[in-house]
Amino acid sequence: MRFSTGTRVAALASVWLSFTSALPGLGHDNDDVITRDVAIIGGGASGTYAAIRLRELGRSVALIEQRDELGGHTHTYYDAAAPIDYGVWIYTNNTDMERFFAHFNIPLVAEILNGDPAYTRRYDFRTGEAVAALGGNIIDALTRYVGILLQHPYLAGGFDLPDPVPEDLLLSFGDLIEKYDLGAAVDMITQFDQGFAENILDYPSIYILKYLDLAVIQGIQFGFSRPASRANQDLYKAAEAELGEDALLGSTVARIQRQDDKGTSAHHKDTNAHHKGTSAHHIVVDTPSGKQRIIANKVIVAIPPLLENLDGFDLDDRESDIFSRFQYSSYYGSVVNVTGLPRQLQIFNKATDTPYHVADLPGTFTFNPTAVEGIHTGFFGGGAGSLPEDQARQGIIDNLLALRNAGYPVSEPEIIALRSHTPFGLHVSAEEIAGGFYRDLYGLQGYRGMYYTGAAFHAHNSAELWEFTERVLQEHVLVD
Ligand SMILES: Cc1cc2nc3c(=O)[nH]c(=O)nc-3n(C[C@H](O)[C@H](O)[C@H](O)COP(=O)(O)OP(=O)(O)OC[C@H]3O[C@@H](n4cnc5c(N)ncnc54)[C@H](O)[C@@H]3O)c2cc1C
Ligand SMILES: *[C@@H]1O[C@H](CO)[C@@H](O)[C@H](O)[C@H]1NC(C)=O
Ligand SMILES: *[C@@H]1O[C@H](CO)[C@@H](O)[C@H](O)[C@H]1NC(C)=O
Repeated sequence: MRFSTGTRVAALASVWLSFTSALPGLGHDNDDVITRDVAIIGGGASGTYAAIRLRELGRSVALIEQRDELGGHTHTYYDAAAPIDYGVWIYTNNTDMERFFAHFNIPLVAEILNGDPAYTRRYDFRTGEAVAALGGNIIDALTRYVGILLQHPYLAGGFDLPDPVPEDLLLSFGDLIEKYDLGAAVDMITQFDQGFAENILDYPSIYILKYLDLAVIQGIQFGFSRPASRANQDLYKAAEAELGEDALLGSTVARIQRQDDKGTSAHHKDTNAHHKGTSAHHIVVDTPSGKQRIIANKVIVAIPPLLENLDGFDLDDRESDIFSRFQYSSYYGSVVNVTGLPRQLQIFNKATDTPYHVADLPGTFTFNPTAVEGIHTGFFGGGAGSLPEDQARQGIIDNLLALRNAGYPVSEPEIIALRSHTPFGLHVSAEEIAGGFYRDLYGLQGYRGMYYTGAAFHAHNSAELWEFTERVLQEHVLVD
């Protein structure tokens, strides 16, 4: 497990506090209670958007983030020569995304991906052996893939699924490939679908279709957007500056006392809970400077909703039962100082001995060149559950060294930055989806005063999450 400095300070502070609380007169608890319209937990893409947008709409907020900076999966390595994004990289276009950047006067530029096969290579990263591109007509296969997406337009908005859930969405991705003869497009699909646990062919197809969706396909065709600075972290630095003390960094929720206490909830909800002012959540937050109490009318949960992440959130059985079903994968992003890899080449991990040559995982998905010579990014993952940082570090190095067998004079690699994105890609089985998992999950929106956004509720796509979060605000948080 990996702790940011802020978290470590917070952890030390809470140990210190529990020790000193026995001694009268000591302890650093902040006696001031802060009162806010909305408390937001999780300062990644969704939570930061919610905080800035609610302020823009005249609401007061407190944003609680466990790390010592905002941004979630967004990481920029500020090399002296040029910034290097080694987490979130490019954005699909929509008006909420454009307004968010415009709010901070951060100009965007087009990022046109060069799909030229001359700039990609495929190797089995276990051995360095070259792997041939899959044969067949990619354009025709992709056209059939788009045809499936067009049959399910609601996927672009979230997980508001028809009942019964269409069978194609529940098929394993491997079976979908067979049914629609998508084989020739698997190379391209898996290039964009990184971060899945173990075998991507076993995932229910809905997750593939929501990841490589129409917006991403349009981006591949017509271009994505990116800050002109080429530093995605700039957005979150600007948000931190605007939020000031309303962003509680290095902070986690110790406990929440929900507004409608268990037992009194259901039948009293109409009469009591909606009387504003009489019904507020009491939140105790562990911050680097002690405990901070927050009273907020509403809470937005913008963290991966796993039980281990929701300790102290006063969940009832209905909530716990839903959140306990999520599985997730491990995912790491790294910046590597290494010579011997050609500039411009994007190198993909494939396997010589798997269907459609999908990579053997855990392993590095890809090594990418950056604006700085001799600096590459590497993305590692594929383990189900939590894969230790040491294993990721060693895996990235081993995979790079294996490329010597491919003829590249790879130097001894030095990993100069490594970030965990675990838990990534929260998902459930096809049976659970068929059984109404997402209907139940969405049924929690507003339940017992809590609102939800984030990738588990939609997709791992920042711009689409900003659009989704906007809808959660407009349709739930601001009207309830
Ligand atoms: C390597 C990588 C590359 C990506 N590239 C792109 C890209 O190019 N374009 C794109 O659009 N999307 C990209 N994504 C997808 C990205 O995941 C989503 O866009 C987005 O970051 C998900 O946002 P979120 O708000 O759900 O969660 P996150 O961004 O994960 O935010 C959750 C936040 O909550 C905090 N947190 C967690 N638990 C707690 C707790 N208990 N208490 C307090 N705080 C907590 C975390 O520290 C984190 O800051 C990429 C993802 C990864 C991993
Ligand atoms: C997205 O916006 C950029 C400009 O920022 C533009 O060049 C690109 O074509 C747009 N992409 C799509 C799919 O419309
Ligand atoms: C990369 O390694 C070279 C050689 O050791 C060193 O000179 C250079 O400063 C390193 N770059 C970074 C960004 O660490």
